[in-house]
Amino acid sequence: MRRHLLGIEQLDKEQLYNYLDNAKSFVEVSNRELKKVPALRGKTIINLFLESSTRTRASFEIAGKRLSADTINISGTDSSVTKGETLLDTARNLQAMSPDAIVVRHRESGAANFLAKHLKNCAIINAGDGMHEHPTQALLDCLSLRQHFAEREKGIEGLRIAIVGDIRHSRVARSNIFAHKLLDNEIHLVAPPTLLPPNVESIKEFGPKVKIFHSLKAGLEGADVVMVLRMQLERQTDNFVPSLEEYCANYCVSERILSRYAPNSIVMHPGPINRGIELSSEVADGKRSIIERQVTNGVAVRMAVLFTLCAGNITQEEK
Ligand code: NCD
Repeated sequence: MRRHLLGIEQLDKEQLYNYLDNAKSFVEVSNRELKKVPALRGKTIINLFLESSTRTRASFEIAGKRLSADTINISGTDSSVTKGETLLDTARNLQAMSPDAIVVRHRESGAANFLAKHLKNCAIINAGDGMHEHPTQALLDCLSLRQHFAEREKGIEGLRIAIVGDIRHSRVARSNIFAHKLLDNEIHLVAPPTLLPPNVESIKEFGPKVKIFHSLKAGLEGADVVMVLRMQLERQTDNFVPSLEEYCANYCVSERILSRYAPNSIVMHPGPINRGIELSSEVADGKRSIIERQVTNGVAVRMAVLFTLCAGNITQEEK
């Protein structure tokens, strides 16, 4: 039976740490002069990106190549999806060419689970499905936190994490909430009511350590980590905020506010950043920012995921 990575929600803590431990050794490979190991020689990985992407797509391709796999990329605009082919037909045709893994990004929530249900012979890796999950982003975020806090002789449990911005439309937020729930961290969700999922207080899967804040100052108070999210204008079907100016006036994360309410915090952002809307350039480029480290770690985490799911004989289905 094939294993997949569809979301963080299905992982347990041991599996999360396994990915992070594996990623650590792949960080070392990426720091070498010759950044290549033969681990996945003879394996084929298809990156099926039916929604736009810069970081995720490039890092999956680099990750596959550094593991010596044969990687091919298919994007929305150059695939037969533009001729009306369904996702399932596209994926079945790709499976007929015997890839070991299909990495999929799609604008519909549930697209990766759907493929995992219908394709039996290859691993499905979710590279972001609609507003559902983006598991490799949460893993690279955890790896970046682990490195940062290890340098200060600390772990990544028992932290206060503030997630600020368009949480309603963010798969990155959902995957991180599930990851920090496993790590027993306190999670502050900070956004205007319209940018939070409906009835957020009663979402049981998020666990008991999630607190909701509509005030940026209150939500940031004492945070160790501030995770800023992009305003997902492409997913907004309504006017969720009166104007971007007003959003910015109330929720833009600036150095002035951080130094007052979360003076020791570090700042993360999955990219792409809308500078001056959700995050000031001063913070994005300043000493609190670990944003570039996140991007660097994207490669090692994706190497760990590809290696875990494609190397050797797979006998056990992921829980
Ligand atoms: C995120 C995504 O596509 O979900 N970007 C990424 O993968 N680094 C976040 C976003 O688009 O805002």
